Parts: sequence; C-alpha cells; structure tokens
Amino acid sequence: MDKRALSGIPAWKRGLLVGILGLAAVGAAAGFRENMEETQSRGIVEETPEEERRAAEKLPETGKEPAETKKIALTFDDGPHKIYTERLLDGLKERGVKATFFLLGSNIEGKEEIVKRMSEEGHLIGNHTYYHVDITKLEPEEACREILDTSEQITDITGQPVEYVRPPFGNWDKDLECNVTMIPIFWTVDTLDWTTGNADQIVQKVVSTVEENDIILMHDSYDSTVEAALRIIDLLQAEGYEFVTADELILE
Ligand code: NI
Repeated sequence: MDKRALSGIPAWKRGLLVGILGLAAVGAAAGFRENMEETQSRGIVEETPEEERRAAEKLPETGKEPAETKKIALTFDDGPHKIYTERLLDGLKERGVKATFFLLGSNIEGKEEIVKRMSEEGHLIGNHTYYHVDITKLEPEEACREILDTSEQITDITGQPVEYVRPPFGNWDKDLECNVTMIPIFWTVDTLDWTTGNADQIVQKVVSTVEENDIILMHDSYDSTVEAALRIIDLLQAEGYEFVTADELILE
C-alpha cells in the first residue's frame, strides 16, 4: 500500500482503513484462487472425454491411432455416355468406389440399363436438366419442366426420388419453386477435362490441388476422363482418401 496516500488522515482512521483494505485484499485473493480452481476444474472436465475418445480410437495391437479418413467426391456430368460411362462403372466397381452422376434427361433414352446399373451399384444419381440449359435464363415454368422431366425419367428407371441437381454452368435460381425441393450440388475442383484429351494433365491437376472434402467436376463423355478418374482414385486411395458420394460432403 502507498503510505503517502494515507498521510493527512488521523492515525485511528488510518488503522481502520488499513484493516478494511487488508480484508478486501484477502477477499480478492480468495476470489482469485476460486477462479483459478474453477478454471482448472473446467479444463479437466473438458479434457477428459476428449482423452477417452482418443484412447478408445487407439488400436490395441499397435497402440497407434488409425489414419483419419479424408473424404472426397468424384462427380460426372452430362452422361450417361454409351461407351465411357460403363467403362467408368467397371473401374469404380473394381476399386469399390462410389461416385455421383448428374444426368442429362436427353441422354438417358436407350441407356436405361446404364442408369439402372449406377443405382444398383450404389452411386448417387442427380439431375443436370434435360437439355443442359441455364436455368436462370428460362421462365420458371420451363426451368421446372427441365428439372421435373429429368427427375421423372430417372425415377422411372431406378425407383428412387431424385433430390440433387447440378445446374449447368453452375447457375442456379434458389427461388425456383417446382413442387419438389432440389438441393444444388456445385464443385470445388473443376478439372476442365473437356478441354483436353490428355489424361496425364487431368490427373496432375487433381492430385496436385486436391484437399479433404473436395467435390471434383468431371464428365464421363471422354476416354481420357475415364482413364484419369481411375488413376486419380488409385493415387488418392494410396494417400488415404476415401471416395464418397457428393451428398455426404455437402451435408456435413
Ligand atoms: Ni454439364
């Protein structure tokens, strides 16, 4: 305490004041200790479940934690294609990989068996409009017809409702109301696979930029894309990536 602050105050008052301030200091110190203890105990409460969780995740044999799974999704637009889609499906099946296909209604006729196979093999099928249109440039009625006709066609084959849409050009009108709610799925990596016939280039682009939770845009209308996609899977599976359908990534 600063003694000068007390000069000029009678001695008995000074004593009383020192006493009061002393009590206040003791009280404050006790409060501080309580706060410290509270902070520490809160810390322990927070840490315990985390430690238990980590302990539970450890493999008992090795004592090591398993590598965390990094999820990514391959998505293929504009199909189905009469040759390349099945070739892609063969490769996905061999590798145990699920992908997402955004189909054009106008491409489905005559390829119903391919669409059925996609569904049966666990791939996610979404809507890419009927004629590959820019939804935002159409009257709502026409835009809805593009979507509803395509969904109906897919559902007729698979028996499953279509919940997701990839709007061509990435242009989506979120206020569009077509009786059914469609959830748009965009992308985070555009391979630009349609600009090159070179599989190496596509593989390089994806493998060098990919991160966890990426949604990769490709088109199953090219030989080079199928080759690239399967090589990408082989390379990234070796790095611990897990390939999932795109709905898994947007719902997290
Ligand atoms: Ni497209």
